[in-house]
Amino acid sequence: MVRKAERGAVHPAHARLPLEQVGDGTETAAWICSRHSISPKLLAPPGPDEVEIEMMIRAAVSAPDHGRLRPWRFIRIANSGRDALGELFAEAQRRKNPDCTEAELERERDRAARAPVLLAAIARINRGCDIPEREQLISVGAAIQNILLVAHALGYGTRIVSGAKTRDRDLCSALGLAAAEELVGFVCIGSATRSAKPARRPSPLEHLSSWDG
Ligand SMILES: Cc1cc2nc3c(=O)[nH]c(=O)nc-3n(C[C@H](O)[C@H](O)[C@H](O)COP(=O)(O)O)c2cc1C
Repeated sequence: MVRKAERGAVHPAHARLPLEQVGDGTETAAWICSRHSISPKLLAPPGPDEVEIEMMIRAAVSAPDHGRLRPWRFIRIANSGRDALGELFAEAQRRKNPDCTEAELERERDRAARAPVLLAAIARINRGCDIPEREQLISVGAAIQNILLVAHALGYGTRIVSGAKTRDRDLCSALGLAAAEELVGFVCIGSATRSAKPARRPSPLEHLSSWDG
């Protein structure tokens, strides 16, 4: 197959990879479609190492970003911080439901321990500028998706989780978030212990129409 870059349809400035590594794009497209979430309960060591995490964040900061506002940041939860995070989860649960049981609190604590690598994804929406807030939030989503795709490329399973606790301001400030920052969720990354059923996806044509004036 003749690659687009060879046909001249891709400007050389966009073909950053050596041509022999670019492929014709169909493999990459199929690979993107093969990404699916894995329950954090099924994510075991090894998780990504420092170099791989940096690759993920490099991809995150390559997300489309109107106005170059960089409306995202990520906090890696150190393994030594997992117990403390578990306590924050439990306290948030207690604030949400003062009548919750000890078993529910324990489940919350357990959530902080699950994935080998846990990244808190933070949105830093600039509310006083010309770039609409929704565009900034989309940029945060694109940054997170880039992390998921690089993790997938490296062979790791992932899932984003959130829940009411991500909107708990005490929990957010304990994680070091400023008042204007929002905790979007936690990106869980690790090695899948089981293969999951292929995700059911909608038909693409149900989500595409054309307009001809
Ligand atoms: C910002 C965000 C937060 C999410 N939070 C949760 C969550 O708390 N619990 C959950 O089961 N799924 C959550 N999801 C959905 C899963 O991460 C996952 O995308 C969904 O189960 C679909 O699986 P798929 O990624 O294989 O399509 C969240 C997704 C996003 C984008």
